[in-house]
Amino acid sequence: MLIPNLKEAQKRGKQKVLIKDRDYKVTSTQKKLGVGKKYYVKTYGCQMNEHDTENIKAILEDMSFTQTDNYMEADLILLNTCSIRENAHNKAFGMLGRIKNLKNKRPDIIVGLCGCMAQEEVVIKEIMDKYKWLDIVFGTHNIHKLPQILEESIKNKKLEIEVMSIEGDIIENVPVKRDSKYKAWINIMYGCDKFCTYCIVPYTRGKQRSRNPKHIIKEIEDLVKDGYQEVTLLGQNVNAYGKDLEINYGMENLLEDVAKTNIPRIRFVTSHPWDFTDKMIEIIKKYPNIMPYIHLPLQSGSDTILKKMGRRYTKEEYLTLFNKIKEALPYSSITTDIIVGFPEETEADFKETLDVVNKCKFDSAFTFIFSKREGTPAAKMVDHVSLETKNRRLQELNQLVNKYSKLANDKYQDKVVPVLIEGYSEKDESYLMGYTDTMKLVNVRGDSKYIGKIVNVKIEDVKTWSMDGVIVD
Ligand code: 5AD
Ligand code: SF4
Repeated sequence: MLIPNLKEAQKRGKQKVLIKDRDYKVTSTQKKLGVGKKYYVKTYGCQMNEHDTENIKAILEDMSFTQTDNYMEADLILLNTCSIRENAHNKAFGMLGRIKNLKNKRPDIIVGLCGCMAQEEVVIKEIMDKYKWLDIVFGTHNIHKLPQILEESIKNKKLEIEVMSIEGDIIENVPVKRDSKYKAWINIMYGCDKFCTYCIVPYTRGKQRSRNPKHIIKEIEDLVKDGYQEVTLLGQNVNAYGKDLEINYGMENLLEDVAKTNIPRIRFVTSHPWDFTDKMIEIIKKYPNIMPYIHLPLQSGSDTILKKMGRRYTKEEYLTLFNKIKEALPYSSITTDIIVGFPEETEADFKETLDVVNKCKFDSAFTFIFSKREGTPAAKMVDHVSLETKNRRLQELNQLVNKYSKLANDKYQDKVVPVLIEGYSEKDESYLMGYTDTMKLVNVRGDSKYIGKIVNVKIEDVKTWSMDGVIVD
């Protein structure tokens, strides 16, 4: 049993990150463990978690399990969890409640919890106290050990917990089962060293570790050969890519080398304003296959709050960067993340946030009420602001954000824009759906032969969160 420890998770030592390309192993016995059995994985949280699930699925299929989308008929149920806000945490525990009923009827099923929540000491304590009926718990650093963890659990028939609170290595040989044949997530780095005071990620995902550029480029070249149209370079703070490498190679170099693979579309998430260089802007401008889409989290427009958040930039610095990007890339869409109700946020602080939104007119924004994450510095800050006030601020902010989303979309009316057609629209199967290179969702009329292709679409109608159009190729 390996249990997480907050103090350990916080450490940032000087030891070298090891790149391991043999640590994922499956024995012949493990390869047969899933014969005739079905697995179900539910994913919460960010794209990083979505991509981890793609690894988990491939591992399970390596062990002969087959996938089901109905947890009621699964022999193995895994919840890949998120810790970012209390909401995500509650959803996962709510789902465990439902699974418990199933487990009462079918005690032979295996139930597991993994992902970011598994890395939290408080969650593990709660599991050992109230959820002892779980079979396996493994952390974000232990995914490659899934075959061994499952085998042990089946053999010993007791709760197996494998959560390392290490700063982390890089495991290069974990298989992947991609959800899409056209778009792929690529991890370019793991972890985060920024330690914004509200954020749990540096504790759940370990220290910043950049992958070797050669491994990234090879992965993308293989995707190009397989006909992929788009890659998303993933990291908690992609602009800091390479800072921990021994070679002099940063995000701008990586972007340029990825662009040269000729993959038709490249995007990257998430950016921290602190590390966004002029050179990066230049590279984005130079290569047409780098999508003019930038997610640039603001978090707050108030200098006082930004300081308390440990964000390392001021309102003015954010605005300067924003304007620089817009000037160089006028067609680009820029989206953001904003937190309201940070401890002791005043009405004046909140107005500063609204002021930035009014100035930047973001294409869209993900907005949140501050959520206390145990173990982070902000969780200890005193806060007298009522939940009612926070809710009102969120509503006010959302109204403003939506107004600008619609205005940004209005600019597309009657324009012809490139759209990567991904499949049929979930809402209405007579429509296809896809995204523009600026990440606008478009419902498209046209032939299904265009699925998986980038085609020209004439925008006929514009709404706040989507558009309708017709293929004109
Ligand atoms: N409370 C509310 N929102 C948070 N985020 C991160 N941590 C918290 C928290 N404790 C938001 C930030 C981040 C996005 C992924 O989630 O805006 O950019
Ligand atoms: Fe992703 Fe952060 Fe949630 Fe983990 S805590 S799943 S890294 S958003």
